Amino acid sequence: MSPFRLTRTLPEDATDAALRADVLNGLTRTPKTLPPKWFYDAHGSELFDRITELPEYYPTRAEREILLGRAAEIAAASGARALVELGSGSSDKTRHLLDAMPELHTYVPVDVSESALRQAGEALVAERPGLEVHALIADFTAGIRLPETPGPRLVAFLGGTIGNLVPEERAAFLTSVRALLAPGDALLLGTDLVKDEAVLVAAYDDAAGVTAAFNKNVLFVMNRELGADFDPGAFDHVALWDAEREWIEMRLRSRTAQTVKVPALDLAVDFAAGEELRTEVSAKFRREGVTAELAAAGLDLTHWWTDEEGRFALSLSVAG
Ligand SMILES: C[S@@+](CC[C@H](N)C(=O)[O-])C[C@H]1O[C@@H](n2cnc3c(N)ncnc32)[C@H](O)[C@@H]1O
Repeated sequence: MSPFRLTRTLPEDATDAALRADVLNGLTRTPKTLPPKWFYDAHGSELFDRITELPEYYPTRAEREILLGRAAEIAAASGARALVELGSGSSDKTRHLLDAMPELHTYVPVDVSESALRQAGEALVAERPGLEVHALIADFTAGIRLPETPGPRLVAFLGGTIGNLVPEERAAFLTSVRALLAPGDALLLGTDLVKDEAVLVAAYDDAAGVTAAFNKNVLFVMNRELGADFDPGAFDHVALWDAEREWIEMRLRSRTAQTVKVPALDLAVDFAAGEELRTEVSAKFRREGVTAELAAAGLDLTHWWTDEEGRFALSLSVAG
């Protein structure tokens, strides 16, 4: 069995400093916002995996359908010997790609969640003797340095996670991905598509309340890491569709006027009754928009695949 390697490219205190900076910046501005990466401690990663199995959460099933149908085409088009996956989480759907890539030498899952990387990486080396798994704990928005691998490389970014970045962040992110690609490398990008509002909102506000628990998990993270005294019961989960910007927003709405203390930052944060904290955007896409955003970063779209119902797309692009 090949060893499972895990590299932390951010020192632990950098993660701590980044959380402090994001909380200080996000909770002292109007409207209040936090970046979604802080959902994903071990419990948040587990909650996300439960979300992917909910009846309302179609993106995972739709993307899996495309991967099952197209993995061989993707493997042939990329000819990859190394697969780098950004925001890999459980690497569950990735197994369909790995099944179609028997020549693959190295898999590099990249995530902020150490628990998700360990669980997925240890399982993969046991399941696939001969495959090198070199996991990276890293923030993909902060620029990543990849380990040495054989080429060509396929960089995969699945799950529609790119939609969690706002347009300016997406432009910077795609430019940084473009810089990782050598001639012959490719990007496989999963994008959730614009569709009926009721379907979209239900996917982020399920009947069982799992997404609500996922959303409130960021409050538990701030309580644990920064000694804050958020009462998760004093906030309501909100999911709404912004038709102009074509994104879903998740928010936490304060039920009452309250003051929350964040001792690690020496901060007291006032919430008015009904005031909302934005915790995530999840942009939905159209083919023209994806093509244009890739092109702006110097990437040429070569393939576009959707599921049967046209809910989700996978695209393949190469450095132009
Ligand atoms: C929406 S989930 C998708 C997981 C998986 N790729 C899938 O398709 O089911 C987003 C994943 O990206 C990770 N993530 C979020 N923000 C990140 C960041 N800035 N840098 C690295 N990983 C991040 C999370 O920990 C989580 O595993």
